[in-house]
Amino acid sequence: MSRRYLPNIIITGTPGCGKSSHSQNLVSHIKESIGKDLKHFNISDIAKDQKFIESYDAKLDTSIVDEDKLLDYLEVALEKGGIIIDWHCCEIFPERLIDLVVVLKVDNSILYDRLKKRNYNDLKLQENLDCEIMEIILNEARDSYIPEIVIELNSNDIDELENNVERIALWIENWLNDHKNGVTNELQPAESESELEREGEEEEEEREQDEEESNEEMEHLEDLE
Ligand SMILES: Nc1ncnc2c1ncn2[C@@H]1O[C@H](COP(=O)(O)OP(=O)(O)OP(=O)(O)O)[C@@H](O)[C@H]1O
Ligand SMILES: [Mg+2]
Repeated sequence: MSRRYLPNIIITGTPGCGKSSHSQNLVSHIKESIGKDLKHFNISDIAKDQKFIESYDAKLDTSIVDEDKLLDYLEVALEKGGIIIDWHCCEIFPERLIDLVVVLKVDNSILYDRLKKRNYNDLKLQENLDCEIMEIILNEARDSYIPEIVIELNSNDIDELENNVERIALWIENWLNDHKNGVTNELQPAESESELEREGEEEEEEREQDEEESNEEMEHLEDLE
């Protein structure tokens, strides 16, 4: 069974919220503070470099990534650990390989200014502002991972960025202390056990139901006799 000795962290949020800035800062911070090498995976760049782009949405001026190819490519690296995934999508990564999901939040007027500087077309700009208002990515994260590993952090100014990086760095140091023998890349034993228990309970219920049904049939037959 393979294990990882450094955690994998997703830094996600609406385009322009500060994912890449946080990821770069975090990698340098961890190198300086504890001398560990984390790897920053900017997924949009990787998808372009590795030619994982499946199609292009002209209206929204955005590339659609072939997620299966991307995951095949990333799996080995994720099993080694120490990866900072920087992408606006978070739901495709297997839960067993993810230790923390950071969702960055930004006030709409600030996001508007950041995106306006990028000369996004009106539709793309509005789409992204709506995405932030409706907390689409936060909801995706909550739907895809257990609540204990999803955190939401504000990213409106530099002070918040620095505080966030320090908080995540502290979380990494605690993780290392708590997992001196690493963690398994397979499904957590607790999950497997509870799944088995659930399956066992379902089988038991089915057996009881079958028994009840056959008793009823017997009674029915007896009545007929
Ligand atoms: N917390 C922050 N305080 C001040 N400026 C920030 C903050 N976060 C990001 N920025 C600025 O906003 C811009 C967008 O940041 P960044 O490129 O890190 O966002 P992103 O989430 O990676 O965007 P994309 O999804 O498009 O890759 C950059 O100019 C960056 O300097
Ligand atoms: Mg970025």
